[in-house]
Amino acid sequence: MTEQELKKLLRSMSLEEKVGQMVQVTGGFLEEGAVITGPAADAGLELSDCRLAGSILGIAGAERLRKIQERYMEQHPHHIPLLMMADVIHGYQTVFPIPLALGASFHPELVKKAMEMAAGEASSAGLHVTFSPMTDLVRDPRWGRVLESFGESPWLDARMAEAYVRGYQGDDGDLSRPGRLAACDKHFVGYGAPVAGREYNHAELSEHTLREFHLPAKIAAIRAGTACVMPAFQSLNGVPCTASQKIVRELLRKELGFEGVTISDWSAVGELVAQGAAEDTREAAKLAIEAGVDIDMMSVCYARELKGLVESGEVEERLVDEAVWRILTLKNKLGLFEDPFHGAGPEQEKRTVLCEKHRDLARALVAESAILLKNENEILPLSPEKKTAFIGPYVDSTDTCGSWAIFQNREDTVTLRRGVMEGGWGAHASFCHGCDVLENTRVLGFGVEEVFGESEDREERIREALQAAKEADGVVMALGEHTLQSGEAASRGDITIPHHQMELLRQVAAVNPNVVTVVYSGRPLDLREVSACSKAVLAVFLPGTMGGAGIADVLFGKTSPGGRVSMSFPWSAAQIPVYHNDYSTGRPYDPAGAEQKFVSRYLDMPNEPLYPFGYGLTYGRFQYSPVRLSADRMKAGGSLKAAVTVKNVGSAAAKEAVQLYLYDEKATTVRPRRELKGVKCLYLQPGEEAEAVFEITEELLKIWDRNMEFLAEPGKFMIFIGGDSRTDNGAEFLYEG
Ligand code: GLC
Repeated sequence: MTEQELKKLLRSMSLEEKVGQMVQVTGGFLEEGAVITGPAADAGLELSDCRLAGSILGIAGAERLRKIQERYMEQHPHHIPLLMMADVIHGYQTVFPIPLALGASFHPELVKKAMEMAAGEASSAGLHVTFSPMTDLVRDPRWGRVLESFGESPWLDARMAEAYVRGYQGDDGDLSRPGRLAACDKHFVGYGAPVAGREYNHAELSEHTLREFHLPAKIAAIRAGTACVMPAFQSLNGVPCTASQKIVRELLRKELGFEGVTISDWSAVGELVAQGAAEDTREAAKLAIEAGVDIDMMSVCYARELKGLVESGEVEERLVDEAVWRILTLKNKLGLFEDPFHGAGPEQEKRTVLCEKHRDLARALVAESAILLKNENEILPLSPEKKTAFIGPYVDSTDTCGSWAIFQNREDTVTLRRGVMEGGWGAHASFCHGCDVLENTRVLGFGVEEVFGESEDREERIREALQAAKEADGVVMALGEHTLQSGEAASRGDITIPHHQMELLRQVAAVNPNVVTVVYSGRPLDLREVSACSKAVLAVFLPGTMGGAGIADVLFGKTSPGGRVSMSFPWSAAQIPVYHNDYSTGRPYDPAGAEQKFVSRYLDMPNEPLYPFGYGLTYGRFQYSPVRLSADRMKAGGSLKAAVTVKNVGSAAAKEAVQLYLYDEKATTVRPRRELKGVKCLYLQPGEEAEAVFEITEELLKIWDRNMEFLAEPGKFMIFIGGDSRTDNGAEFLYEG
């Protein structure tokens, strides 16, 4: 439709129709069986609220959505097509490793390819918009949604945000092309910093911290062209984002220039009442539309109050027209007025979903994102000629795709046992569970409840596991937190592997010290005791559809693990927040130094995390040359190059994620001792070497200074290039400004 035709359409719509475009309901109101990803029962919505709704969420399937679209358009006064939205967070039915793991791949190009595939599957199934990427910077693993984040580095988060948006929308951003998916960057802003790591809790961020750490990835998503942005549930510095003109209208739209659609989080407009920000749903609707929220997801506020607010003159109709214009423009960019099905169809869906190409990349990304945290005496890779006992509740689990894999069929998931057997490594392998993932616990998910009792044959299963361990040369333990112990509404204060699993590990390690532990989790866990009981530890997070195959590839050396810590693994939850890009203090503690009293430290534990940002072992061994700079000074507007030569002096091919860190030694605001500013992934054969060259631009030096100006300040800078955030392989240059 041309812009003129679209304007004509807008002018011809009644106020009731326009308000309808600003309402989003779960597809369940138009058809049974939608995935409920929030507290639906409390929404209070009725069918009458949905007749003119402009979009639905939570349903997928080409046939189903075509039928809903046809029925809906037929009854709509102007036959305006619905937007079909859903949470495709890390894959549709081919589920990739969770975003925290994808961040750990340190490989945005591969992640972009994965999101292209996810878009292909989801759009063939009739979806137009995904509520992804989630670009919240995280520092607190007690928070369950770290699983959806790319980690603690603003730079890495920004690269992954770009990869996601361009993967979904294409480099040219032409949403009308079939196979494309409109992105929705979320949550705007600061949702990743809930006080005490407790879900939905308020966030308190200084302007400086907000701009230095929490905004860069969101700015990257906006610059990459994200079609939508979702304001966050929580209050930021006392004001709910959903009701904040400062956050939405001033920051997001005016300062950052975002012109797309804003959609509230699930029932967030209605929840302004519970937050004590609105007297009732009428005031909530007023606050949200004035803040700049275009679509009200799953609350009655816009549906029941907006028309009256406009008719009474309390809300200018102009605000409604602006919101509806953005919504119609998005539908037009998707080409829905010409093809309401956006190229979706059962044949296209059958050809695309779970195709071999998608599975292959999903399998490769398992290895690329698995982090080898420990490998004593190079116990890994395993020899298939030796007897290996696979023990643990994750040996046969298909529940390894994470809580947001809402369209995935679990029978498509490759278990660890299947990965070992189909990989041809099972001739001398035995398999048993030893216990369940949880005991005496009840966990709730999106419309699912799992109850774990105490298995009657608990002692027998442990005996079986110990016997298997005794009879084997080595043991692979497959342990971890339950899928539903991470994700939304899944904060944990105790971030360890469930205690009964740890008891099993202790007993197994007592009868066979050759233990490799594979850890499944949605967050960095406290792995102190896992590490003490194991000669090798492989963190696989929630590895997705091809998890078992990718993990077996790593365990038996078909491919080297390529993951690097994207979010620090704390030594203990008591350290939280602990992260690499922290500031020095006036009394820095040097653990290698002499005993010091008046310094910034704990009396009873280290300052450093158990596994720091950027860290990860491989089956290779990499040597770095000293850093070479093309110049030792940079003028304003200038740049210089920093290079190292990296050699694989190990005996196996492997990937090295060469990391570039910056340290601004003195500035008008204190600076992190290490800031990731570049990554180059090198795949080197034994004996092979390659050069990694980084361009250092003035843009990379910019900081938010004492006057909250974003600029590069003259002074000395250190460049460090190495294999993790602790590298001291550095060189200094002077920025003259
Ligand atoms: C959820 C999440 C949000 C998601 C939305 C729709 O509560 O906070 O990330 O996209 O509702 O499912």
